[in-house]
Amino acid sequence: MKATVIHDFGTPAAFSYEDVPTPEPADGHVVVKVAACGLNRYDLYLRMGGIKRDIKMPHVMGADITGNIAAIGDGVTGFSEGQRVIVAPGFPIDPKEWDYEPINQAASYCVTGTYLWGGYAEYTHVPARFVIPDDTNLPQDQLATAPLCLTTAMHAVKTLGEVGERSKVFIQAGASGSGSMCIQVAKALGAEVMTIVGAEPKVETAESVGADYVIRRGIDDQVQRVRDWTDGRGADVVIDNVGSEVFQANMESLRVGGIFVNFGLVSGYRTEFNLKNFFFSHHILKGSMMGTEAELAEGLALLKLGKIKPVLDRTFALNDAAAVHEYIDSRAVRGNVVLIP
Ligand SMILES: NC(=O)c1ccc[n+]([C@@H]2O[C@H](COP(=O)([O-])OP(=O)(O)OC[C@H]3O[C@@H](n4cnc5c(N)ncnc54)[C@H](OP(=O)(O)O)[C@@H]3O)[C@@H](O)[C@H]2O)c1
Repeated sequence: MKATVIHDFGTPAAFSYEDVPTPEPADGHVVVKVAACGLNRYDLYLRMGGIKRDIKMPHVMGADITGNIAAIGDGVTGFSEGQRVIVAPGFPIDPKEWDYEPINQAASYCVTGTYLWGGYAEYTHVPARFVIPDDTNLPQDQLATAPLCLTTAMHAVKTLGEVGERSKVFIQAGASGSGSMCIQVAKALGAEVMTIVGAEPKVETAESVGADYVIRRGIDDQVQRVRDWTDGRGADVVIDNVGSEVFQANMESLRVGGIFVNFGLVSGYRTEFNLKNFFFSHHILKGSMMGTEAELAEGLALLKLGKIKPVLDRTFALNDAAAVHEYIDSRAVRGNVVLIP
């Protein structure tokens, strides 16, 4: 089969489009013919060696996989050849932890395509336990934008952020893959949402996924705009995927007793932390990493009902992985981008 592999960590030039052996299904596994593989900023960190350094080379990355069952290993029930499926965007790679709860806190849990080969290929080999029947009826390229961001958003916004009817939620980078999904989850839960975006075209993207108020990075004063919106109180919840550059503004945007959820670090991961303001303000800080199978299932149900929509920016051919990584790095992506084998 054809695959886009890396032989070492590095720049997008590290990608090589090659022939590699087509996988055969081991016991308890299936082979999925990849219809589309969605990308996230995680892919850039992984390619650069910023996630793990002990990944065996050559490696095929790719977390957000939609496709069809191509071959079924012994002991697998409930799947048929040709069936449309989604691969879980993360799971414990140690089978002993497959039933760990919550699954995203298992020691060997990682994003799909981190250690085991992922979706930058014509076929991928997955434990059947982490393959989900796809009954969404969505085009497979659009659906491939969703699993990782949906899992993340359900966990960060609903479970950890405790967002509900009329919550006032401030969400960073509202046109990003993860930010646009968090807006949709917050809106589906009945919240009111303010978000911030960089370039002007991203305003329309954030509005199209339901943001009630969209402010501009570098133009608007985030803290002031949140204060004006909340009659001076501050937001009930701040959802952050940007990290250090906006940490102080995020804290000042939060109401007394508000919840801050961080799951990302595009601008950096070190910051100064004011403990005095923290405890005087009764702030609750939560770290969020991916999510559970139940959270993904709940998110997929919202997707099937049309309450959440995939945000597909562009598709690229599988041999164009370098271009798609450069595009993500340019900060111009709205929603997610997808590779098509
Ligand atoms: N922990 C988890 O479970 C989890 C899951 C998903 C994502 N993440 C993390 O969340 C972050 C965002 O991921 P993503 O895939 O949604 O990214 P993305 O689609 O590439 O969007 C990132 C956005 O961040 C904004 N940004 C603000 N400051 C920036 C800076 N200094 N440099 C570059 N961009 C900056 C940009 O939007 P504007 O131009 O509009 O400001 C950019 O488009 C990443 O750190 C990723 O690893 C974590």
